[in-house]
Parts: sequence; C-alpha cells; structure tokens
Amino acid sequence: MKHFIITGHSKGLGAGIVTQLMDENYHIHGISRTDNIDLQKLAKAKGCTIDFYSCDLGHTDEIEPVMQQIFAKIKPEETEGVYLINNAGLIKPIGPIETLDPAEMDLHMRVNLLAPMLIIREFIKATTGWQIQKRVLNISSGAATNPYYGWSNYCTGKAGLDMFTRSCATEQEKKQYPVELMAVAPGIIDTGMQTTIRGTTEEQFIHRQKFVDLKESGQLIAPNLAGKKIQELLLSNDFTNGAITDIRDQYN
Ligand SMILES: NC(=O)c1ccc[n+]([C@@H]2O[C@H](COP(=O)([O-])OP(=O)(O)OC[C@H]3O[C@@H](n4cnc5c(N)ncnc54)[C@H](OP(=O)(O)O)[C@@H]3O)[C@@H](O)[C@H]2O)c1
Repeated sequence: MKHFIITGHSKGLGAGIVTQLMDENYHIHGISRTDNIDLQKLAKAKGCTIDFYSCDLGHTDEIEPVMQQIFAKIKPEETEGVYLINNAGLIKPIGPIETLDPAEMDLHMRVNLLAPMLIIREFIKATTGWQIQKRVLNISSGAATNPYYGWSNYCTGKAGLDMFTRSCATEQEKKQYPVELMAVAPGIIDTGMQTTIRGTTEEQFIHRQKFVDLKESGQLIAPNLAGKKIQELLLSNDFTNGAITDIRDQYN
C-alpha cells in the first residue's frame, strides 16, 4: 500500500492529481475545507480509498491533530511509501501592497506558507525511522522566481515555500532514513484560481489581459493532465531531494 496525503484535493489541480492517483493499492488522505463527492464516487469505482479531513489551513492550530489522525491510519510495516503533496493555495489578495487588507495578507501567508511548513514538520516527525520511500512535493509557481505586479503576497509565499523545501532537504541529507523533498511549478492550469485572476481589475493586476487571452485561446492546461505529470514526477526515479523544478514545457 502507498499512502498519499494531499492538501486542496477537492478542486482544481488537487482534484486532477487525485484522479491520477486512483489505484486499488493507493490510499489517499485529502485535506480541504470541502469534500468532492464526484471524486469520492470515482475513487470507489476504482477500488481506491479517499479519506476526507475537513480542515481550514488558515487555522494552523488544526494541523497537528489532523496529521495525527492521518498517521494513526498508516502502519509503516504494511506501507511501501508515504507521500505528501502540499497543493492547497490561494492567490488573493491581489493588488499593489498599499491597497491590501492586512487580515487577507495574514490568511494568505498562513495557507500558502505556514500551513505547508507545519504539515511537513508533522510528516517528518511521524515518519522518522520509517525505512520506506518518503517524499514531499510542494506545489510552487513560476511566481516564486518572477515578480508580478499585484501578486506580492503570492510571489513571496511561493518563494518561501521553495526555500523551505531546499532548507528541509539539506537537513534530511544528514538523516539515516531521509524524507526527500521537491517543489514543482506546474504551469498555468484551468482552475478556479485562474477564474479569480481573470476576475481582477487591471489596476490590481496589470497582466490580467494576458491570462484572459490564454483562457480564450485554449492554452490553459487541464487539471487532469497537470495531475498526471505531477503523479509521474512524484513516483519517478527523477525525484531529486532539494530540487525545484518547472514542468511548464512538458505538456507539448
Ligand atoms: N492554477 C494555476 O494556474 C496555478 C499555477 C501555478 C501554481 N498553482 C498552484 O497550484 C495549487 C492549486 O491551485 P488551483 O489552481 O488548483 O486552485 P483552486 O482551484 O482555487 O483550488 C484550491 C484548493 O485549495 C484548497 N484550499 C484553499 N484554501 C484552503 C484553506 N483555507 N484550507 C484548506 N484548503 C484550502 C481548496 O479546497 P476547499 O475550497 O475545499 O478548501 C481547493 O481544493 C496552488 O498551490 C497554486 O498556487 C496553480
């Protein structure tokens, strides 16, 4: 059995990844605020279990108990590998920094950066000494390395997530049974996040029209296709501890 813990499994890219992980030998643990009933039905038909853990990752004090609940269900002696995909994220607030609401900024950094850090902490703590494959894949963005006008929070959170990946990877290199960590920028995917981006004003986000054009010309990547690439990366021999990769060019 392989266990997959994924945040933000209910919609968008997360749902695309889960769809690609539906296998009777896989057990999926999805952490989101809402469940996805269609996904549950599809999984059941394929003999795959998805356990849903209702959690608002903005409430960071909920993370430790949720991770403990998940690890109570994983028996290392019956497990071939355990995988964590930190996928949940938000794009808001969007706009020049002086226009942003501090409470929205606080929520953004908790969901996009602090929550994955705490989840990784729990993952590493719970699996210390487990002699099985242990991998963490953080969903990053091109915005981690390229500044975008109006996306200061999003760019900063993703840059932080990349650096956290690299820092933890360095620590794991010294361990007897290390967890391997990577981050991946998945490309521009046709999800609710893109709807939010198109719903902003030019004053908030000066590149808005480019994203409208990408949608209208059919250039956004389908979540299931992105999910397939991510599933392949997660389980491949190319998975490299500490690496930050961009799979944007792999869809052609
Ligand atoms: N779409 C793109 O073009 C693109 C490009 C690069 C990177 N990414 C990254 O890909 C990841 C997924 O984005 P997406 O485009 O799939 O976005 P999405 O369609 O908006 O889905 C976001 C997911 O995160 C969950 N989520 C949001 N806030 C949460 C919270 N407070 N607590 C728990 N779960 C929460 C949502 O579940 P609930 O609503 O059920 O809580 C949902 O499943 C993000 O990390 C994003 O930064 C996306």
